[in-house]
Amino acid sequence: MKLFIDDAHLDEIKRLYEYYPVDGVTTNPSILSKVDQDPRKTLKEIREFIGEDDIIFAQAVALDADGIVADAHMIVDLLGKNTVVKVPSVPEGFKAIKQLTKEGIPTCGTVVYTPMQAYLAAKAGASYVAPYVNRIDNMGYDGVEVVKEIQDILDNSDFDCEVLAASFKNSQQVMELAQYGVGSATAAPSVIDGFVKNMAIDGAVQDFVNDFEKLTGKKAMTDLD
Ligand code: E4P
Repeated sequence: MKLFIDDAHLDEIKRLYEYYPVDGVTTNPSILSKVDQDPRKTLKEIREFIGEDDIIFAQAVALDADGIVADAHMIVDLLGKNTVVKVPSVPEGFKAIKQLTKEGIPTCGTVVYTPMQAYLAAKAGASYVAPYVNRIDNMGYDGVEVVKEIQDILDNSDFDCEVLAASFKNSQQVMELAQYGVGSATAAPSVIDGFVKNMAIDGAVQDFVNDFEKLTGKKAMTDLD
């Protein structure tokens, strides 16, 4: 499963890239609004840092299909190859996804709350569909189960589309979907840190250092004479 960082703060992106095997960065207008500068500058800085081979997702903001297509052209001009344009999975969005697919511009059907939306976005030509796990949970449904249903639909179709599971509140939800074979997930830095933020793990690592120090009086192999 590919793992993306759902954040636009460059310092956080740099920190996660240093420690974890991540595949790129996803953004949306709300995420970009948390960095107080022109969103084009933020996106460009992220692209420059991650390089041209990793994937960046940026969302079209216009509500009508022509406007979405125009936003998509601007996004791709700005960020170059390996850019995926997120498009809301609503009727104007499907119209735009069909057009962008004809033009060879990769898209992600986003704002997915139901398998029906995912089906239409995939059929329109989206390369990814992004169901919002936590937001579905907050509506009283089971977000992880909805993502599994969408995965089943894609597995039983010939659409060239994969799930980008999104909107997580904890790391276990991400792992449950990795186990199910979901192609991609995007999570906030705190959720990615949560994969290994565990006192038992920290304690085990420290025990090894303590035992080595008791034996040798040193803290690392290279400290030995
Ligand atoms: C990704 O496509 C979504 O924009 C994002 O993950 C939504 O996350 P949120 O529900 O935490 O805002």
